[in-house]
Amino acid sequence: MSRIAVFPGSFDPMTMAHLDVARRAATLFDRLVIGVLHNPKKAPLFPVEQRVEMIRASVADFGGNVEVQAFDGLTVAFAQRNGAGFIVRGLRAVSDFEAELQMAHTNRRLERSVDTVFLMSALEFGYLSSTLAKEVAQFGGEVAEMVPVPVAAALAERLPREAT
Ligand code: PNS
Repeated sequence: MSRIAVFPGSFDPMTMAHLDVARRAATLFDRLVIGVLHNPKKAPLFPVEQRVEMIRASVADFGGNVEVQAFDGLTVAFAQRNGAGFIVRGLRAVSDFEAELQMAHTNRRLERSVDTVFLMSALEFGYLSSTLAKEVAQFGGEVAEMVPVPVAAALAERLPREAT
């Protein structure tokens, strides 16, 4: 039986930390489906279609077992639609732990057949977040080491320098 995992997130936008987790997860599972949450209640910087496209471009060289989909509703339902038994999440620091624990327990309570697997974020990306990358880009800072190339280009277009 093939091992299928989903890697859900807002990815607004994808960072190098996300990309690193996706790369490693792709080697652990037969199929990895990156799920980009479409949450109508939130106003993301990038529309969900653009977030999906940027991730597709960023994982293009990962091999054939990674795909990217937009989803809404529950992550466990998204996992089940894809036949996935696992949810992959990255953990950067202790500060991530409580919220992730709560999510993992909630998801397990909702669907016992789906388990959460955590990968520790790479040391060099442990400080990173989508919010931080957006702020740096907004004020004209260099984001080349924080986000994949397609994201850096989109940030430059979407967030022209505010201050010099
Ligand atoms: O990148 P993020 O914002 O940390 O990702 C959070 C995400 C998308 C994984 C989480 O909000 C989620 O699973 N949302 C879907 C709704 C859901 O399933 N809620 C119950 C589990 S917490």
